[in-house]
Amino acid sequence: MEQYIIKGGKPLVGDVAIGGAKNAALGILAGAIMTDETVVIDNLPNVRDTNTMLAAIQDIGGIVERDGKDPHVVKVNGANINPERVYIDYDYIKKIRASYYLLGALLGKYKKAKVALPGGCNIGSRPIDQHKKGFEALGARVKIEHGMICAEADELVGNHIYFDVVSVGATINTMFAACLAKGKTTLENTAKEPHIVDVANFLNSMGANIKGAGTDLIRIRGVEKLHSSDYSIIPDQIEAGTFMLMAAATRGDVRVNNVIPKHLDALSAKLEEIGARVDEFDDAVRVRVDGRLGHTHVKTLPYPGFPTDMQPQFATLLSVSSGSSIVTESIWENRYKYVGELSRMGANINIEGNTAIINGVEGLTGAAVTVPDLRAGAALVLAGLMAEGYTVVDQIEYIERGYESFEAKLNLLGAHIEKIQFADDKAVQRFKLRVS
Ligand code: EPU
Repeated sequence: MEQYIIKGGKPLVGDVAIGGAKNAALGILAGAIMTDETVVIDNLPNVRDTNTMLAAIQDIGGIVERDGKDPHVVKVNGANINPERVYIDYDYIKKIRASYYLLGALLGKYKKAKVALPGGCNIGSRPIDQHKKGFEALGARVKIEHGMICAEADELVGNHIYFDVVSVGATINTMFAACLAKGKTTLENTAKEPHIVDVANFLNSMGANIKGAGTDLIRIRGVEKLHSSDYSIIPDQIEAGTFMLMAAATRGDVRVNNVIPKHLDALSAKLEEIGARVDEFDDAVRVRVDGRLGHTHVKTLPYPGFPTDMQPQFATLLSVSSGSSIVTESIWENRYKYVGELSRMGANINIEGNTAIINGVEGLTGAAVTVPDLRAGAALVLAGLMAEGYTVVDQIEYIERGYESFEAKLNLLGAHIEKIQFADDKAVQRFKLRVS
């Protein structure tokens, strides 16, 4: 098991380049099997979750070819998938829930699919009733048996679907099935996240007819089949936001490149509100801080609201800001697991239901901490970067699910962070010597 060791207290300064959006990539990779022609995907983040999705695609007979020179380019061909054996194993679902996107993609293409049913995970119970509602409205019979979710249809026929809950996953999954259904589908109360738009743009580049993605009403006219495409994934707004907060937390000056600044508006506004300076460029944002930041109230909401995937990192920044802040998590019921770890570093945070009451302390001190989930992991690294002394972050495989070359990018900004096999005394000593 690998760990990060961090010596905190160094302001991050310089430029960082953001990779492709993990959550868009997971949808796009699943969508790529919906044609028998070869699809080329560029700007693919080379992280654990996208690699698991590629392995799941190979497991059902899809052909995946990595570009030998650039790990961010992949060719996917779904022609050899055997429709009689479209079965996504629990092993994949356990690693990434998003392998359920293959359910919508396979149902659309072959009119049947079987995917292991995802259970809850570290951040919440994560129901899939809205996915089921979407498939059933299009005419699929959906059964849950022996731990599998099985969807089958003689034909899929367009319909009007009003989602009871705004769900990224259900919007994407239903969009997959609907774009190869007969006739027109309208999806209402849909999620508006940038990756919904990216998946829709990708499907349109394959010949689908989807309009309105990015609003809460998506209109889809079913087509007979999809064709090849050469598509580049949008930048990852959460990776970008994480670096923006790390710049602010260390009172640094970082230009975050290869981003779509509009996607970062909710975060930029909050940062400015508490005293950071944020400058926007065409495809970059620069974050500068030179004193202690202030307090605020923030509530996570579906896009364009403040993203739940930035909540742990932002709350961690607020833990050393002046005054009292209040953070309300309205998407996932279990997203404060990192708070216990932060308390061990000196933070003063009380959790009441879905609300965190944060009393800003002067500073954190380094400690050994354990990562409970992906974004909480980024938050604990952020805590380590601003803490006095040394922090060892355990279970970093969660972080590697969504952040590519995390420590390399941070080192380029001047951070002292290293990935080590075992944080035993010798390894810690070597690191201390190197950074002293
Ligand atoms: N929900 C239902 N029924 C459903 C589906 C969702 O009640 O059938 C509820 C959930 O319980 C939750 C809310 O709706 O309270 C939103 O869930 P959503 O379906 O939007 O989440 P998701 O698609 O499972 C994606 C991201 C998450 C991100 C959320 C919210 C991917 C692969 N995952 O999850 O990303 O937190 O949207 O923005 O796109 C991460 O990257 O760290 C991560 C967890």
